[in-house]
Amino acid sequence: MAFTVLVLHLLGASVWVGGHLVLLFGVLPGALKAHDPSIILTFEKRYERIGIPALLLQVVSGLWLAHRYVPGILDAFDFSDRLHSIVA
Ligand code: HEM
Repeated sequence: MAFTVLVLHLLGASVWVGGHLVLLFGVLPGALKAHDPSIILTFEKRYERIGIPALLLQVVSGLWLAHRYVPGILDAFDFSDRLHSIVA
């Protein structure tokens, strides 16, 4: 189960970061050159359909993974040891 959740977490990270790299290197230069923000908005509108679910998947799977290390997660913010500090 943990392996599957970690794979989903990494797939979500790939979509989220990958989409923003496409935005940065593929879309933004053209928009800046043309002084046309609608180019960015058009990309964002299409990307959002997979980008936002990917981000939500990240948060949910990430909290689930963190919960395995510090049950309840909130206890991590007492920074009482290295594991708690890393999770916090
Ligand atoms: C609320 C948000 C998040 C939480 C709570 C969270 C939590 C975690 C946890 C606990 C792990 C360790 C999994 C394990 O090895 O057992 C992990 C790994 C990872 N996370 Fe997240 N994560 C979150 C969001 C993100 C985001 C937004 C990204 C990137 C866009 C990301 C990228 C990664 C990557 C690449 C790893 C694998 C590297 C490693 O295991 O150290 N995470 N995350």
